[in-house]
Amino acid sequence: MNSTRYGISMFISFEGIDCSGKSTQARLLVERLQQDGHKVLYVREPGNTALSEAIRALLLDKKNNDMTARTELLLFSASRAQLVENVLRPALDEGTILICDRYTDSTVAYQAFGRGLPLEDIEKCNAVATGGLLPVRTFYIDIPPDEAQRRAAETGKGAGDRIERAGKEFFTRVVDGYHYLAQTQPQRFIGIDGCRTIDDIAADIWSRVQELLLRSNSA
Ligand SMILES: Nc1ncnc2c1ncn2[C@@H]1O[C@H](COP(=O)(O)OP(=O)(O)OP(=O)(O)O)[C@@H](O)[C@H]1O
Ligand SMILES: [Mg+2]
Repeated sequence: MNSTRYGISMFISFEGIDCSGKSTQARLLVERLQQDGHKVLYVREPGNTALSEAIRALLLDKKNNDMTARTELLLFSASRAQLVENVLRPALDEGTILICDRYTDSTVAYQAFGRGLPLEDIEKCNAVATGGLLPVRTFYIDIPPDEAQRRAAETGKGAGDRIERAGKEFFTRVVDGYHYLAQTQPQRFIGIDGCRTIDDIAADIWSRVQELLLRSNSA
């Protein structure tokens, strides 16, 4: 996080299980920052480069249900490597506030805790994919799997793609993974109670971002 001659550059990510409200909150934060005149880039993982979108389609395709956990890990990592080098680093160099809808913490939560791959393998893969680029803050929208299922049913999103169909026990393990991150990286990885109203959650996140902006202005 710093001020460049073009503007403030800052990297914020959103995490949470499916239907926790990540994209809703990311969109509201993007709008709020743009109203204040910041240059903002929203990216959704996996995706945002032609190659990364092609990898996303492979990952989510129900036809690929024989995909092994390690293949899945490497595909997510490949998509991220392309995104970091071609999009994220250049944007930060040009004074942009990056809002990333999922990033390396999803790989820890889903592939280590959800799929059961060794955590140290995941951490190595994340390091290779990102070259060490980490968000200054990650807002983890914390809701129980039951509430996520209720929202999914309500919106008709249901158990749509290959990963969403993994079941409730899987998502319970993913939540354990997110809680592990909140405990081990408390400065960066901030749990946000996602069971409040959309406006209350947005106000909570905005006050935290404002603090960061003030700090980076006075840096
Ligand atoms: N705080 C909230 N209370 C109730 N419903 C919410 C709240 N936040 C979001 N929703 C609703 O839940 C649904 C899922 O929200 P959203 O798409 O933002 O989640 P997501 O985490 O981005 O999901 P995905 O991982 O599938 O992309 C939407 O219909 C949204 O309107
Ligand atoms: Mg979303």
